[in-house]
Amino acid sequence: MSAKLLFYGIILSTLYFKYMLYAEAQTTDPSEVSALGAIKSNLIDPLGHLDNWNDGDPCISNWTGVICHNSTLDNEYLHVLELQLLRMNLSGTLSPELGALSRMEILDFMWNNISGSIPTEVGNITSLRLLLLNGNKLSGSLPETIGYLPNLDRIQIDQNFISGEIPRSFANLNKTKHFHMNNNSISGQIPAELAILPNLVHFLLDNNNLTGHLPPEFSRLPNLLILQLDNNNFNGTSIPASYTNMSKLLKLSLRNCSLQGPIPDFSTIPGLGYLDLSWNKLNGTIPTNRLSGNITTIDLSHNHLSGSIPLNFSGLPNLQRLLLENNSLSGSVPSTIWRNINLTGNRSLILDFQFNNLTNISDTLRPPANVTILLHGNPVCNENQLQIGQFCQLQSIPFNESSTVALSCNSCPENYEYNPSADIPCFCAIPFHVEYRLKSPGFSNFQPYYVDFEVYLTNGLVLSINQLHIDSVVREEGPRFRMQLTLFPDRITIFNTSEVLRIRSMFTGWLIPDSDIFGPYELLNFNMGYYGYGIS
Ligand SMILES: *[C@@H]1O[C@H](CO)[C@@H](O)[C@H](O)[C@H]1NC(C)=O
Ligand SMILES: *[C@@H]1O[C@H](CO)[C@@H](O)[C@H](O)[C@H]1NC(C)=O
Ligand SMILES: *[C@@H]1O[C@H](CO)[C@@H](O)[C@H](O)[C@H]1NC(C)=O
Ligand SMILES: *[C@@H]1O[C@H](CO)[C@@H](O)[C@H](O)[C@H]1NC(C)=O
Ligand SMILES: *[C@@H]1O[C@H](CO)[C@@H](O)[C@H](O)[C@H]1NC(C)=O
Ligand SMILES: *[C@@H]1O[C@H](CO)[C@@H](O)[C@H](O)[C@H]1NC(C)=O
Ligand SMILES: *[C@@H]1O[C@H](CO)[C@@H](O)[C@H](O)[C@H]1NC(C)=O
Ligand SMILES: *[C@@H]1O[C@H](CO)[C@@H](O)[C@H](O)[C@H]1NC(C)=O
Ligand SMILES: *[C@@H]1O[C@H](CO)[C@@H](O)[C@H](O)[C@H]1NC(C)=O
Ligand SMILES: *[C@@H]1O[C@H](CO)[C@@H](O)[C@H](O)[C@H]1NC(C)=O
Ligand SMILES: *[C@@H]1O[C@H](CO)[C@@H](O)[C@H](O)[C@H]1NC(C)=O
Ligand SMILES: *[C@@H]1O[C@H](CO)[C@@H](O)[C@H](O)[C@H]1NC(C)=O
Repeated sequence: MSAKLLFYGIILSTLYFKYMLYAEAQTTDPSEVSALGAIKSNLIDPLGHLDNWNDGDPCISNWTGVICHNSTLDNEYLHVLELQLLRMNLSGTLSPELGALSRMEILDFMWNNISGSIPTEVGNITSLRLLLLNGNKLSGSLPETIGYLPNLDRIQIDQNFISGEIPRSFANLNKTKHFHMNNNSISGQIPAELAILPNLVHFLLDNNNLTGHLPPEFSRLPNLLILQLDNNNFNGTSIPASYTNMSKLLKLSLRNCSLQGPIPDFSTIPGLGYLDLSWNKLNGTIPTNRLSGNITTIDLSHNHLSGSIPLNFSGLPNLQRLLLENNSLSGSVPSTIWRNINLTGNRSLILDFQFNNLTNISDTLRPPANVTILLHGNPVCNENQLQIGQFCQLQSIPFNESSTVALSCNSCPENYEYNPSADIPCFCAIPFHVEYRLKSPGFSNFQPYYVDFEVYLTNGLVLSINQLHIDSVVREEGPRFRMQLTLFPDRITIFNTSEVLRIRSMFTGWLIPDSDIFGPYELLNFNMGYYGYGIS
């Protein structure tokens, strides 16, 4: 009996202590506290990440993933600024009560298993900048209300099961830069109305069920850098000629879109770095004007192209791949394409001309090392076996490009790792790990850009280049490049917690500036490791 009384006594005094604490401190807006309760009750949380969502006040007691404004705004309460619930094995559904988090700027449920639809009420969060729901099992259609979010910078709903059409209301998203909606089941025509969006930069809707035609009006988008629509069905329509006026375009990827008709002359686009029109039914001849010197990848394979291979594919200094296989190209095998290409370092060039109607060689074929020419399936191989037999074997281009760097100093204490990038040999420090992916890069091979990438990312994060080590790079479908990154403190053994949180917010807030060549990134995981204890 007395033990029980003592027990209740402790509980009461704990509650009283908490009450005193919160009576003095500011507290979270009660409507947001109850919304968080509803959000939690709609989720299934097998690993108990949200267990502390009962404990005290959300903003004061550091509830997992709840980041608050650091001051009261227009009333006496604190407000939720971000919900950061990346990769927490959450399933269940998204509560309509999300709409009550009315001062929120970042909503992040990336890489969980959440199902159900996106609640209409998300459209009530007028302060929302980043809507990050990619990598779940969401279905149903896109709420029209999202189109009225005046501050939305980024919509990432890729890798879900979203169906229905793109709401026409999205034409109001005049601050939105990034539309990442690939790998869903979105259908219907791309609304031409979106062509007025002043800030649209990346339009990624590959791997959906879009039909109709490509809107010619998109040539008016003043800031469009990437248009990626592979694996949709534009049902025998052609590529609008107006697309040759997209003056800022860096990447056009329309693989397997059921397109017909001619290839427009894209030599007018000054910075075009990546052109993939493969697996369509494009016909006619290949335009002869020289493409941008920045081009790395030209993939026109698996079409119905005829005529000869233009001489102007020579002298493109950054070219990595010219893929023309499975067309009806005739004439001679060009023997000068590799002229003026810098093939030092890890650079290489693949020229795939297999299964065409090439009949002769204009000159002896003596490509340098690291230039691969594939000619199998052309008449020229029947008559010139002795001279060019080495190029006539049936080959496929190796898909994988991956590298893992083995670490060799293995005497570090627990939690410490050896930093191979450090200028001090075998220096041990406590790092953390980030899983990262280039989602739509401007190249086919990563190798030549390795050092540029280290410079880009460390500059973007305001770190020294010695703090980053790329543990591995794996080429994936797309192509995309998945990387394991390790970040180390600079010449000291341990990070300040605030520095780890700063770096995390750079990744989770998309504060690292985009790069033309590396394109948009995906954050797959942010593993705080040693620094994760006691931090929400
Ligand atoms: C919440 O986090 C802040 C900053 O990390 C820390 O100062 C504070 O003590 C934490 N509060 C609780 C109740 O854990
Ligand atoms: C509060 O947040 C604002 C903007 O997010 C920031 O500028 C300010 O430095 C923060 N203040 C404190 C005390 O953290
Ligand atoms: C949690 O999810 C990850 C993938 O995000 C998976 O690899 C892991 O097995 C899951 N863990 C549990 C306990 O379900
Ligand atoms: C929230 O959204 C719903 C559905 O979009 C709407 O009916 C409701 O009026 C909104 N509530 C507020 C407070 O804006
Ligand atoms: C963006 O849209 C809002 C509301 O529709 C409007 O008030 C604002 O002027 C627009 N801004 C631009 C730059 O078009
Ligand atoms: C999308 O298209 C594929 C292939 O055409 C089809 O199998 C699938 O049922 C379609 N999905 C929806 C939701 O329309
Ligand atoms: C494709 O176009 C043809 C003729 O224009 C039409 O009969 C057919 O229904 C279209 N298919 C789709 C999926 O839109
Ligand atoms: C070509 O690429 C270089 C290096 O990335 C860049 O500085 C330059 O602006 C690009 N040229 C154009 C026309 O975009
Ligand atoms: C290309 O294909 C279209 C549609 O099949 C046809 O009308 C046109 O004549 C073809 N053009 C050439 C140059 O073969
Ligand atoms: C060729 O590329 C390498 C490595 O990217 C560079 O160091 C070198 O200066 C380049 N050479 C020329 C002639 O551009
Ligand atoms: C060819 O490429 C390989 C692997 O990318 C590289 O190791 C080698 O140095 C390159 N050779 C030349 C001559 O550039
Ligand atoms: C290949 O080209 C020859 C002439 O060079 C032509 O007679 C023949 O019809 C062409 N074959 C195909 C399949 O286009």
